[in-house]
Amino acid sequence: MSLHQHYANHFKIGAAVNAYTVDSRAELLREHFNSVTCGNETKPASVTRDGETYDFAQGDKIRDFAAANDMAFRLHTLAWHNQTPPALYSGKSRTDAIAALDRHIARMAAQYPDAYAVDVVNEVISDAPNGDALRKTQLLEIIGVDYLDIAYTAARRHFPNAALVVNDYNECDAVKSRRIFELVRGMRERGVPVDAVGMQAHYNIFSPATDEIRCAFDLYASLGVKIQVTELDVSLFRHDDKSQLPQDESELARLLDHQAEYYAALFRVFKEYAGTLDSVTFWGVCDEDSWLNNFPAPRRRNMPLLFDARGAKPCYDAIMGV
Ligand code: XIL
Repeated sequence: MSLHQHYANHFKIGAAVNAYTVDSRAELLREHFNSVTCGNETKPASVTRDGETYDFAQGDKIRDFAAANDMAFRLHTLAWHNQTPPALYSGKSRTDAIAALDRHIARMAAQYPDAYAVDVVNEVISDAPNGDALRKTQLLEIIGVDYLDIAYTAARRHFPNAALVVNDYNECDAVKSRRIFELVRGMRERGVPVDAVGMQAHYNIFSPATDEIRCAFDLYASLGVKIQVTELDVSLFRHDDKSQLPQDESELARLLDHQAEYYAALFRVFKEYAGTLDSVTFWGVCDEDSWLNNFPAPRRRNMPLLFDARGAKPCYDAIMGV
C-alpha cells in the first residue's frame, strides 16, 4: 500500500516539486502522493517580472503532471514579502497597489482555476515577540492594515471554490500561534473569507514537542476553519545549529531513528485531527532535493524527508505503521 492510500480516509498527502523533480521523482510522486504544489514556480517572481507579462511554463508543467495523474493541485502563493518582483507594487499608490494585487490574483486564477487550496498571502505574522502582530511588508505599508481583508476578498472573487489559506511558519510557537488565531478570528468576524490555517510544519527532530503541536491544532480548530499542513519537513538539526551531519554511520542512523519516531508521533497527532486537517504536504520528495540542503546553512546536507534517492527511509516505515 502506498502512503496516500494508507491515509486516504484521513487527509490528502502532498509534495512540493519543481520543474525538474516532477520528472526525476515522477514514480515516487505517482505512487505515494495525491496532491502537488509548486515549490517556487507559482510565486510572484517566478511568473512575472513586471506584473504585465506572465510566463507560466514551469507551473503549467507541474499542474499538467498533477492533472494527468489524478492528483490535486495546491497553489502557493499569491502574495509574499519574498520572491516578489519590485515592479509589481513598488512606488504605487494605495489604489494602484490594490488594483495590481487584484490583477495578479485574477491572472493566477485564470491560469490555475482548479487549485483546491490557495496560500493567498504567505507568512503575514511577525516573529518579533513585542510590537505589532503583522509583519511589516510592502503591501502593509502601501495599502494599510486592511490589505489582508482586501487580498482574501479578492481571492474569493477569483477562486470561488478553493480553500483560502493563511499560511505561516513557527505556527506552534505560543506567541505566534496566538497572533495567527487572533488574525483569523478577526477576519472571520469581519466576514472576510478565510477557510483554513496553513501550518508550514518546518520542524526538527527536537522541536516542537507533540504537546505544543496539539495545542496549536486545538487553537486553530477552535476557529471553525480547516487546517492544512503545507510544507512539512523534519530537519536533523536544531533550528540554530549550522553544523554538519555526523560522519559516523551509527550516529547518523541514530538520528534517522529519532526522526522516524518524531514522524510517527506527528502522524499520530495528525490522525487525531483528521476531519479538520484535510491535507498534509511535504516540502519535497527526496532528501537530495530539499531546500534544507541550502537553508539555514548553504550547502549543508540535511535529510528531512521520507525518501532519499535510494528509496524509503525509516521515517517512511514509521508513518506507514501509524
Ligand atoms: C523556499 C523554496 O523551497 C526554496 O527553493 C527557495 O529558495 C526559497 O523558498 N516558506 C515558504 C516557501 O512558504 O515558499 C519556502 O520555499 C520555504 C519557507
